[in-house]
This record gives sequence, C-alpha cells and structure tokens, in this order.
Amino acid sequence: MSSLKGKVSIVTGGSRGIGSAICYKLAELGSNVVVNYSGNQEKAEFVAKDISEKFDIQALALKFDVGSETEVEAAVAQIIEKFGRVDILVNNAGITSDGLFVRSKLSEWEKVMNTNLTGPYLCSRAVTKHMMKAKSGRIINMSSVIGETGNAGQASYAASKSALFGLTKSLAKELGSRGITVNCITPGFIQTDMTAVMKEEQISQMLEQIPLKKLGDAKDIASLVAYLSLDDSSYITGQVIGVNGGMNM
Ligand SMILES: NC(=O)c1ccc[n+]([C@@H]2O[C@H](COP(=O)([O-])OP(=O)(O)OC[C@H]3O[C@@H](n4cnc5c(N)ncnc54)[C@H](OP(=O)(O)O)[C@@H]3O)[C@@H](O)[C@H]2O)c1
Repeated sequence: MSSLKGKVSIVTGGSRGIGSAICYKLAELGSNVVVNYSGNQEKAEFVAKDISEKFDIQALALKFDVGSETEVEAAVAQIIEKFGRVDILVNNAGITSDGLFVRSKLSEWEKVMNTNLTGPYLCSRAVTKHMMKAKSGRIINMSSVIGETGNAGQASYAASKSALFGLTKSLAKELGSRGITVNCITPGFIQTDMTAVMKEEQISQMLEQIPLKKLGDAKDIASLVAYLSLDDSSYITGQVIGVNGGMNM
C-alpha cells in the first residue's frame, strides 16, 4: 500500500466509534488528522493526542456542528490556515432518532437530516474549492445498510442515509475531472455507542440476517476508508460499498 504521509484528513465525528477508528487508521498511514466532534471534547482531545504521539503526525481536535454553515466554513478556514491543505474528507458524523413514524416529530426529522445529510453537503462544499485547486482529493460519505434496505422505526435515518447515494454519485460526476473521487460506505451493524443501546433480543434477530454471524468492528470500516483514501484506489469513484458481513447483497 502507498502512504498518506504529509496529507491532511478531516474526520467528522472522529471522537468515538467508527470515526475514532478512522482517525487511528489514517494517522497510522501518515496523514495529519482533524478530529471533529460536537460535544465530547475529552474524547476528541484524547484521540488527537494519542494518534499524534503514536504515529508522529499532527492532529487537531476541532469542535464544530457539521450541520451549521457558519461553523463548518470557519472550521475549514482554520484548518487551511494551520495545515495549508485538505486532502481527505470523511463525512462520518451521524445520529439516529428512532421511533414510530406516525408519532414522529418534524423537529426530530430535521435534526437527523441536518447532521446526516446537510452536514456532508456543507463539509464537502467547504473543502471542494481547496481540492479543486490542488486537482486532487478524496471525499468519503458514511451511509448505512439501512439506507439500502430501510428499517421500521428508522424512516428519518434511512432517508438521510439513502440521500447520500445521490450526493456521492453527483459529486463524483461533477468533480471527477478535477482529480477528486467521491465514494460512499454502507456499514452493517458495527459495535459502537450507536448500537450499544440495542437489546439482547434485537441483536440475536440481527445476527440471523448476517451470514458472517457477528457484528462488525469499527476497524472493518476504517480499513476501507484507508483504501479509498490512498492512491491505490484512484480509479474508484461514485461507488456505494457495503461492509456488512453479507447482511445485504
Ligand atoms: N454503528 C453502526 O452500526 C453503524 C452502522 C451503519 C452506519 N453507521 C454510521 O457510521 C457513522 C458513525 O457511527 P458510530 O456508530 O461510530 O456513531 P457514534 O458512536 O454515535 O459517534 C457519533 C460521532 O458523531 C459525532 N457527531 C454527532 N453529531 C454531530 C454533529 N452535529 N457535528 C459533529 N459531530 C457530530 C459525535 O461527536 P461527540 O462525541 O462529540 O458526540 C461522535 O463523534 C454514522 O454516520 C452512522 O450513521 C454506523
């Protein structure tokens, strides 16, 4: 594998779960990393300090709400000021708000859309001009297997995650000639805080649908992000790639 030495990556929602595993993997490959978070300063700062010490790279824990235009624009300006470039954007931050559709509230729907869809839109838009100038870049959107299959009780989450397919493919078409690739990952059930709330019974039901008979690890997703960030994957763009133990084929 080639390396990411000297590159700069932004990982939204890098403080925990899948995002944190992605920060470790990109840093291991030599990239400087911006560890974004929305509230959990302690965890984000721990990740940034730990990866910078372990892998001899520069890391910055940076608080911004991916759904806020002013915060995203200010954050990217700060990143450019510090590092002078952005090579890789991983739109990983995401939330759920589960419940019966008939009882759902517009405010909850909007909150999910704002983080899961408007967030990737705003972050992609803010970095694209810098990537276009550099004639190179990688944008990786974190969707979900639920965006492919739908799920009872997760209408807003599923809708926000399938919308990322359209965003990914359109940006891939628009930015391909500028040397920027845009891809989308659809994780299955991965062991993180997001799935820790599931009941034993729900997990057993889930496992019945997974040919590999286990939940995934955040590192399984981080490995694919690493590959999609490297020069090795330069001919892959506009793709939706599942990492789900065979749960959806
Ligand atoms: N876990 C799974 O099984 C699974 C499956 C399919 C897809 N995914 C997707 O993978 C991604 C990561 O999931 P995860 O399980 O690792 O989630 P997680 O453990 O709940 O972590 C979520 C991360 O997103 C950050 N975040 C939330 N809202 C934000 C906002 N408005 N602005 C900036 N950061 C924000 C959180 O920051 P704080 O720490 O500051 O709160 C945290 O770092 C999500 O997009 C999720 O939908 C997960």
